[in-house]
Amino acid sequence: MKIGAALHYTPLDRGMRWLGRFLPKGLYARALIIIIAPVILLQSVVAYVFMERHYELVTRRLSSAVTADIAALIQIYESYPQDREATTLTRIASESLQLDVDILHNTDLPPPGPKPFFSVLDETLSNELRRQIDRPYWLDTVGRSNYVEVRIKLNQDTVMRVLARRSQAYASNSHIFLVWMGGSSFVLLGIAILFLRNQIRPILRLAEAAEALGKGREIEFRPRGAREVRQAGHAFLEMKRRIERNMEQRTTMLNGVSHDLRTILTRFKLSLALMQQGPEIEDLKRDVDEMSRMLEGYLAFARGEGGDAGETACETDLRQLLEEAQSDAERQGHVTELDIVGDPIITVRPDAFRRLLFNLVSNAARHGDRIEISANHETRWLTLHVDDDGPGIPADLREEVFKPFVRLDEARNQDEGGSGLGLAIARDIARSHGGDISLTESPLGGLRATVRLPA
Ligand SMILES: Nc1ncnc2c1ncn2[C@@H]1O[C@H](COP(=O)(O)OP(=O)(O)OP(=O)(O)O)[C@@H](O)[C@H]1O
Ligand SMILES: [Mg+2]
Repeated sequence: MKIGAALHYTPLDRGMRWLGRFLPKGLYARALIIIIAPVILLQSVVAYVFMERHYELVTRRLSSAVTADIAALIQIYESYPQDREATTLTRIASESLQLDVDILHNTDLPPPGPKPFFSVLDETLSNELRRQIDRPYWLDTVGRSNYVEVRIKLNQDTVMRVLARRSQAYASNSHIFLVWMGGSSFVLLGIAILFLRNQIRPILRLAEAAEALGKGREIEFRPRGAREVRQAGHAFLEMKRRIERNMEQRTTMLNGVSHDLRTILTRFKLSLALMQQGPEIEDLKRDVDEMSRMLEGYLAFARGEGGDAGETACETDLRQLLEEAQSDAERQGHVTELDIVGDPIITVRPDAFRRLLFNLVSNAARHGDRIEISANHETRWLTLHVDDDGPGIPADLREEVFKPFVRLDEARNQDEGGSGLGLAIARDIARSHGGDISLTESPLGGLRATVRLPA
């Protein structure tokens, strides 16, 4: 992996990241957008271009036809002046052309009405009137919703008024095309969604299995889905198996080592017991004791004590565990308060979690008089505070004490000390649950150990 490369973003990368902030985060939603967006875009473009052209073309044809009819009527009227009231003309027009014609005497054209803001009809009809008839005219496409009114000035005081149905001049019912297009794309999208869901489910399952492994939980997983996803699933299973094999090997080896060393230490102790007692022998005995205690501690730590030694997570009663720890501390003569907020059922490896708790509480008991344990499990995360009123730990050493075998007590009080593994083991356990431990100052004056883990 090139780590340095991550620092040089091209403008394209930056653009994509910027865009990514507005996109939904889920794979499913993103995949849907990738499918839906082009479809909608394409349909809009097609619909727009088609409708535009279609409307214009059909409207022009229709308008031109109506205008030609009107032009013919004008010619007939002017060629046969004997029919001044135009009764025959009106009859022919309404029977054969579906146009309502009136001849108005002694009037002029009304003043031009307001132009509609956007109307293909108004524009096309005007053009056709100018082109085919070329006389003063007056046009109303706005009022009388179903009709279009055209007035044409024939001479000084005669005006011909024509009422045509709007549909004669204007293409209006092509929305059925849109309905078909929208309907069919809905059906196609539905099918796409179904298929997509089946493709994405195996990826989600893999993510869940990986997450569960990180938290030390067991979850059944079988690779499924598309080839690449199945490949990733098999790789994951292979990795899981290798980790488990490693752990197994480690445990076996450590058990062997501890067995051998313990045997020798026991022989040591036996020999010492048989020797003549004296101050040197006492010293030796203490050293051997210390050594066997350290050995136990070290082995426990190296074994990942409780950490991941075969135990699986299950639903555990937090209250019971905490009350155990509380009564333990009280038996040693410490005032111990307990406070639990939220759901007391947590999913952890019980023995490991008990050990973590014990390590923190025994530290608090060793250094302070009062102890406060408070747990909060209102969200998916469990937050656990162990407070004491002891001397605390200076801020710059709070990370240091998590290291194995680091003890501050050495300077403070040599005899009482443990092996310096308690916090290291506790952190190991918290991390193997997918969480962590941190140390801060306690409101009681001493140290506050905070455990946060998903439970
Ligand atoms: N509550 C506390 N108040 C003050 N100091 C603490 C507290 N808890 C831990 N420490 C300091 O951190 C050091 C490391 O603690 P840790 O629990 O890892 O080891 P330990 O308690 O010395 O030994 P072990 O827990 O293995 O018996 C301790 O030696 C102690 O100096
Ligand atoms: Mg300790």
